[in-house]
Amino acid sequence: MHFLKIIGAFTLQFRDLNVFIFRDSFHRLTMTEYKLEVTTGDRQYAGTWDHIFITLFGTEGQSERTELDNFGIDFATGTTGNYTISTNLSLGKLLLVKVEKDPALILPEDEWYFSKIVVTTPEGEAILFPCYRWISRGELVELRGGRALKAFEEDHPMLIDHRKQELIHSKSFYQWTTLAEGLNHISSFKNVSDLPAEVRFSKSKSTEVGNVKRETGIELILKGLLGSKEQWESIDDMKNIFRWKKTTMSEYVAEHWKDDDFYGSQFLNGVNPNVIKRCSELPPNFPVTEKMVKPFLEEKSSLKKELKKGNIFLYDQKKMDGIPARAYHGEPLHVTPGLCLLYVNPENKLMPIAIQLHQQPAELNPIFLPSDLETDWLLAKMFIRNADAMDHQSVHHLMKTHFLAEVFTVAALRSFSVIHPLYKLLFPHFRYTLHINTASRISIFGPDGSLNTSSLGYEGLMELMRRAFSETTYSSLCLPENIIARGLESIPNFYYRDDGLKLWNIINSFVKAVVGYYYPSDSEVRKDTELQEWISEIFTHGFLGNTASGFPASFHTVEEVIKFITMLIFTVTGQHAAVNNGQFDYYSWVPNGTRLLRKPPPTTKGQSSMKTILETLPDVGETVSIAAIVWILTEKYTDTVLIGAYPEERFQEPAPKQMMKEFQAELSDLSEAISTRNLQLEIPYTYLNPTEIENSIAI
Ligand code: FE2
Repeated sequence: MHFLKIIGAFTLQFRDLNVFIFRDSFHRLTMTEYKLEVTTGDRQYAGTWDHIFITLFGTEGQSERTELDNFGIDFATGTTGNYTISTNLSLGKLLLVKVEKDPALILPEDEWYFSKIVVTTPEGEAILFPCYRWISRGELVELRGGRALKAFEEDHPMLIDHRKQELIHSKSFYQWTTLAEGLNHISSFKNVSDLPAEVRFSKSKSTEVGNVKRETGIELILKGLLGSKEQWESIDDMKNIFRWKKTTMSEYVAEHWKDDDFYGSQFLNGVNPNVIKRCSELPPNFPVTEKMVKPFLEEKSSLKKELKKGNIFLYDQKKMDGIPARAYHGEPLHVTPGLCLLYVNPENKLMPIAIQLHQQPAELNPIFLPSDLETDWLLAKMFIRNADAMDHQSVHHLMKTHFLAEVFTVAALRSFSVIHPLYKLLFPHFRYTLHINTASRISIFGPDGSLNTSSLGYEGLMELMRRAFSETTYSSLCLPENIIARGLESIPNFYYRDDGLKLWNIINSFVKAVVGYYYPSDSEVRKDTELQEWISEIFTHGFLGNTASGFPASFHTVEEVIKFITMLIFTVTGQHAAVNNGQFDYYSWVPNGTRLLRKPPPTTKGQSSMKTILETLPDVGETVSIAAIVWILTEKYTDTVLIGAYPEERFQEPAPKQMMKEFQAELSDLSEAISTRNLQLEIPYTYLNPTEIENSIAI
């Protein structure tokens, strides 16, 4: 009896304790609150009047679908609103945030640029859920938050399944298609209106690009220049194409385009610094003799000695050989697969000293020299520049930066979950690339685009790209290797190399830090299925499985990943800036580098005059169209993100944020050094100054 009493008393006490615990928990659980900070982007028209609903999902359950509605205006552009979601029970570890946008009554579509949401749990943990995209009416978005995770690090069945579904959806949305046989694959979007919200231009960028096109067109129409079939009466008349649109450099080019030292400098610091190579032995099909070039070499020196000293360089345009040019008024145009020999003189200037316009030496294929009749030499230089302008635009600009960036982008969007660390690292470097490429495939590079008016025309340029594509190697896209392979380690006054290598190293340190943080060992690389799928898609769709190119088909080590991502970021930032940003400077003065020449090249010496030059250059309408396009492509737009600026907060963890700060500090030091160096230069080299480089290919 006594024993039972004791038991009973204990039981009673235990029960009381239970009740107490239950009541206390109940009290706390009914008060469970999730604090939300919801940020609307600060871009034009980012805000919305529509209703926004949020549902939180955790390991222990989900919240009610709750409308975010404070007193006053919600979701105004550039604001952060604070909201609370209460739940009966703790949701456990927070997994997903579902965001829905319903229409405000009777109002028309009112897209919302939703930046991010930070949820502070009742346990006091603040979790970042990045979004950074437009959300349309009726759209539902599920956000992943917290620390970046590789697929094998997922431990919750709901997230494993969510990740699987996310990638199935991405693959159905972002698809590959072919551009042409023998070229890399591209995204299947035909028009920019088909593009999903996350990769579209901002409204301000679309408006500004449209305005520049209109303003440029109106000025040229008012002057009666656009569409004019007249021939220029004098070269100087071209100075009046644009009244206001000039740069210091474009004016310098107009004054100096005939000068040999300026001509040579463009192979180093112009818009196509990718083509010349050191020449230690003349190619057999370019029989330049000692006698021909002796007057242009250092006194008492010889071609043989200069070849040995490493002062001779060659631009060989053999890739152009045999590509049919387009028909023009019923006759084929002429594109020359020329050879240009260059010499670094004792003043450290790179001078053209001999030009042969066709590959096979022949009587009607003379070697032109600086001592020839001025207009003969000028014509020879113009034909070299003409082929170079087409090679630059289609191969080095479009194919090796724009199209390559598109391959990296589509493969990433199909392969990586948004929570993957490399998605977070790389997505800012893909900003607007799909949009500009989709648009330019119609207006610039399409069969009816502006490049179709070049001497090669659309079909010819496709063939040129096909030839260049088959020769493109991984090594050639890695600047340090590219410079060595071309023998340009010590050529003087090569600022593209000097600035580019410093930039490459800065990018490399940053990538090393971030990739090293997320991949502490090679085995992490090998078991990351999304990473392996990404590089496999790039290899298959970007390089058509060509093992001879040296591009990796899979990654085995952390080191390989670092090198590839360094190359990627350099290509879409510095390399694109180097081949894009100087287009107005160097091409708006059309005689300096025209993609269209109307007359055949000279075949004998002593027959030309300024009249021949004017007849060979494009007519008035063609000239102003070329100048207008390069203006649009190099205009400064307000919606620009510079290299290393990551205005969108995508990483939760402090380590990558700190690495970004260090990256920015190094870029800032480089910028200062370049600006200081440029003060000493007659022609400042600005294209690789980080203050001039965008974080992605966006134009
Ligand atoms: Fe570009």
